Amino acid sequence: MSDKNYPTPHINATPDDFARTVLMPGDPLRAKFIAETYLKDAVLVNNVRGIHGYTGTYGGTRVSVMASGMGMPSIGIYSYELYNFFGVENIIRVGTAGAINPNVKVRDIVIAMGACTNSNYASQYGLPGTFAPIAGYSLMKTAIDNAETHGAVYHVGNCLSSDTFYCDDPTVTEKWSKMGVLCIEMEAAALYMNAARCGKNALGIFTVSDHILTGEATTAEQRQCSFTQMMEIALDTAVQLN
Ligand code: HPA
Repeated sequence: MSDKNYPTPHINATPDDFARTVLMPGDPLRAKFIAETYLKDAVLVNNVRGIHGYTGTYGGTRVSVMASGMGMPSIGIYSYELYNFFGVENIIRVGTAGAINPNVKVRDIVIAMGACTNSNYASQYGLPGTFAPIAGYSLMKTAIDNAETHGAVYHVGNCLSSDTFYCDDPTVTEKWSKMGVLCIEMEAAALYMNAARCGKNALGIFTVSDHILTGEATTAEQRQCSFTQMMEIALDTAVQLN
């Protein structure tokens, strides 16, 4: 029997197809947008289930971008396979989040130092307590430096990675908000746990697309502009790591 672990059920590629660092939006079309807008000589390296993955160069350095799909089970699969079977060292999630802190406004950027979760993802490790999923320090520090360079309005702190987008209990948002959590998204905690388990690095950077406390939302045009800044921060971070 072969000891080759690729292709996997979800990624039809070889380790050589991927760069050391992968940018990971949730949406496959956003992966395509990043590849077509920013990467030189981008090649499609995966398209299983429409999960577009591309590798090209940015400022002369190889970078990959591949979608995660939505939610922790989905990013859990893709990040696990990239870390374990495709030689990927760094994954930077670039996504959207809903703000739950009065100081965080729509279009701001959140760099997730930690990721709380209501998911049971950590139970697989059988730990005798709760695990605190955190970003890779040097990835985070580099991203913060780049956010400064880009003149971005950004916040560094905790996010909540939630298993539900539609939550039956309207009181929970306030409880997380009281603990200083800045925003809600649906993937970072699983990504951070996979990185920890694999001895690799991960970071989540989010554009605030809506404000859960005030109901404010971004227009399509505003979203595009702030997403672009987030992607450039992530790309600059990716090339500075190599
Ligand atoms: N909840 C979860 N994920 C999100 C949200 C939200 O309100 N907004 C953008 N991503």
